[in-house]
Amino acid sequence: MTADAPLLEVRDLAARFVARAETVEAVRGISFDIRPGEAVGFVGESGCGKSVTARAILRLAPEGSTVALSGSVRYRGQDLLALSERAIRAVRGRRIAMVFQDPMTSLNPVMTVGAQIEDMLREHTDLSRTAIRERAVELLDQVGIENARARVHDHPHQFSGGMRQRVLIAIAISCNPDLLIADEPTTALDVIVQAQILRLLLRLREQMGMSLMLITHDFGVVAGMVERVNVMYRGRIVETGEVDRVFAAPAHPYTRALLDAVPRLAIARGPA
Ligand SMILES: Nc1ncnc2c1ncn2[C@@H]1O[C@H](COP(=O)(O)OP(=O)(O)OP(=O)(O)O)[C@@H](O)[C@H]1O
Ligand SMILES: [Mg+2]
Repeated sequence: MTADAPLLEVRDLAARFVARAETVEAVRGISFDIRPGEAVGFVGESGCGKSVTARAILRLAPEGSTVALSGSVRYRGQDLLALSERAIRAVRGRRIAMVFQDPMTSLNPVMTVGAQIEDMLREHTDLSRTAIRERAVELLDQVGIENARARVHDHPHQFSGGMRQRVLIAIAISCNPDLLIADEPTTALDVIVQAQILRLLLRLREQMGMSLMLITHDFGVVAGMVERVNVMYRGRIVETGEVDRVFAAPAHPYTRALLDAVPRLAIARGPA
């Protein structure tokens, strides 16, 4: 791979939900690149296909559903859609990690957060038991959990919503992924905590040199965060470009409509 070759090259990706009665085409042939170290935003209204796209990269379907994928998802030149189940498992979580949209259901309520981080490390690394314990503490500390050495023994319900999101980020970055996919990482949080989590993601991206795929329905969130943005509408990417350009001069009418909604949302939320 040359220095400026994309880390991820998605071409003509389509995702269809295959149910008994009908087929729903959730993603309809989208193409995009993510370069090494680059942060790319995916913005669009609810139901436009953002989460389905993110899961398709890792060949995951929403719980209880079957999704047929077509097109290609090249990661470092290798098509993930063509890999064996065993081979894709080695990529998932280790090379490409994801913070899923629903932070409440992503953590196991009956396991300590330390044990959940350690599980990930055991699955994907050869570290010794002691090293894994140490690394779990280090990771919690790295995502800004105070008193990490004691807090590894706590359960998810002992953490606030923002702290749970930090724990999920710690699990996601535990194996130093090349790409972190964050699906609406701040939607359930108040504005102050939202800003803290976004700053954390930016800092980690810089420290670790990883790429970031940031998914949100809120244009305001991607503004200071990403270099490029893809605007999705009804399963398609309708506009793609440098985020400042898209902000200043949106080309697609749907992007304009999305941008018009930003100040109204900001007002509805009150002062930041
Ligand atoms: N489990 C499912 N079974 C059938 N169809 C689904 C399922 N999940 C999603 N879809 C279809 O896929 C489309 C895209 O869903 P997706 O979850 O990717 O939207 P999204 O952009 O992430 O929305 P949100 O902002 O609400 O998270 C939906 O409009 C729906 O038609
Ligand atoms: Mg979603």
